[in-house]
Amino acid sequence: MSDQGKPALIQLTDLARVFHTPGGDFAALDGIHLSVARGEFLAITGASGSGKSTLLQLVAGIDRPTAGLIEIDGRRLSDLDEEGLALWRRDSVGVVFQFFQLLPTLTVAENVLLPMDLRGAIPARDRSDAALALLKRVGVAGQARKFPAALSGGEQQRVAIARALANDPPLIVADEPTGNLDRANADGIVDLFQSLSALGKTILMVTHERRLAERADRSVALQDGRMLGAPREVAHA
Ligand SMILES: Nc1ncnc2c1ncn2[C@@H]1O[C@H](COP(=O)(O)OP(=O)(O)OP(=O)(O)O)[C@@H](O)[C@H]1O
Ligand SMILES: [Mg+2]
Repeated sequence: MSDQGKPALIQLTDLARVFHTPGGDFAALDGIHLSVARGEFLAITGASGSGKSTLLQLVAGIDRPTAGLIEIDGRRLSDLDEEGLALWRRDSVGVVFQFFQLLPTLTVAENVLLPMDLRGAIPARDRSDAALALLKRVGVAGQARKFPAALSGGEQQRVAIARALANDPPLIVADEPTGNLDRANADGIVDLFQSLSALGKTILMVTHERRLAERADRSVALQDGRMLGAPREVAHA
């Protein structure tokens, strides 16, 4: 069950990520407990260096924790080997970055088609229509034949969200997706996340902006790798 009493899509239990550096071990995350309901739009806030990106990378299966459990949609990510984790990522999570990260030599439509081609779940003849439908969904269908560089930042981020949705994952993780956008475009991206969450997508969005975090269903804050306001850990004798 999630913290809201609804079925959880994401369950994090006593999660830690320690980096071994020449200067010694450094805990970027420690004692993280969190559950996120299916369809919930969660904002993650916290100062620079508090562990926000580290947390998203663990949830996206890009990185592995040094302790604790990650369960998503009934899967324990630690049960998957590298190949299994790569397939899980491909099918189960869409990632959105601050700097869009579209492939510059592919058109907008081709950027959205690529993950569909890699997965192969949609019959090849239907993929163009599916990509166009996603571009329409995020409001940039008119740009399908252009290259990313010809689009504004807000438009590029919409394309990146369409790409993240290409294989219809239940989960979208977005690391400062509005960090490079003006206010109107930032609001538009959050509008889009709100509507995707209403359709049942679970969204994790890192943001520095309180105004945007307040538009999520809930926000949690990290400080020095720990969740603020989380119940204090019970010391076991
Ligand atoms: N590969 C790594 N090796 C060593 N330390 C790391 C590594 N990755 C992250 N860290 C450290 O972990 C801490 C958390 O980093 P993280 O990138 O998660 O912060 P953040 O909250 O996303 O910050 P920002 O708001 O600046 O993006 C930082 O102190 C960072 O230096
Ligand atoms: Mg970060």
